[in-house]
Amino acid sequence: MRLVSDNCVVLLCPHSEEGTVLRCLGASRVMACEDGVTVIRSRNEAERALDLVVDATGLEAMRYLDRFVLIMPAKEGIARQKLVDHFFSLLGEDYETYIDVERNCRNIANLLHLLQAHGGLGQGQVVVDYGCGTGLSLRVLAGSGIELVGVDRCEVMRSVASNRGMRTFRPEELLNWRGEPFDGAFSSYALHLVYDYKDVEAVWGSLKPGGVLAGNFHKRIGLARVESWIRRMGGSVLVPEVPCEWEEHGVLRVFTRQAVR
Ligand SMILES: C[S@@+](CC[C@H](N)C(=O)[O-])C[C@H]1O[C@@H](n2cnc3c(N)ncnc32)[C@H](O)[C@@H]1O
Repeated sequence: MRLVSDNCVVLLCPHSEEGTVLRCLGASRVMACEDGVTVIRSRNEAERALDLVVDATGLEAMRYLDRFVLIMPAKEGIARQKLVDHFFSLLGEDYETYIDVERNCRNIANLLHLLQAHGGLGQGQVVVDYGCGTGLSLRVLAGSGIELVGVDRCEVMRSVASNRGMRTFRPEELLNWRGEPFDGAFSSYALHLVYDYKDVEAVWGSLKPGGVLAGNFHKRIGLARVESWIRRMGGSVLVPEVPCEWEEHGVLRVFTRQAVR
């Protein structure tokens, strides 16, 4: 499905809210409805009416990559995760045409630098790229001797990454991981989109004792949620906030499995 054309914005909303959203936006076209998610194409100007949607429904509107709006179910949790999953399945192989690839690669390089500084990243080590998407980190680590393992909920993303040579997993495949524990993990532009605690638990449990996870939180979204999950699993914040050169990266934070006073 071709998602965008000029002067249009694509909205995803819970199917139960379709009527209200369409009423608030005026003329808009429903492109599809699957898995309880409605996909709407609307004219750019309709975006101004989003406040009306939010007022009428009490839902949250999350703007994404300029052209997209996710109208999030009221409660955090699996319903939001399903909307996010649906969104990435729609973007699929076109994902890199919508992002600033250089910016994401720079973010990944910054996160790896943090892993190196606080987890001791080196040749022969195996690192999880959590929310790996299309596997951009392969470019960043090319020739480093560090192995990447990609974890992502979206099958399309995983298949692009694995066609590029990354070993990939669904998060639940790491639950009760019996292989060698991984040396560390990073997450670029993904943690603010994670609503399923079990996924973080799976990745966290696959790390070696004392292993670290470095992630960025775009616009600080999801920071409190992920931090509370990590504390619930006995982890701590190792580095609370790292200044970075690109405002869009948001806050970079390092968590550790070790207790920190
Ligand atoms: C914005 S993309 C970032 C991709 C890549 N890390 C980058 O920097 O270009 C977010 C990715 O996170 C994945 N994702 C969202 N929720 C997830 C979850 N709960 N567990 C694992 N991956 C998730 C999406 O499928 C998507 O591929």
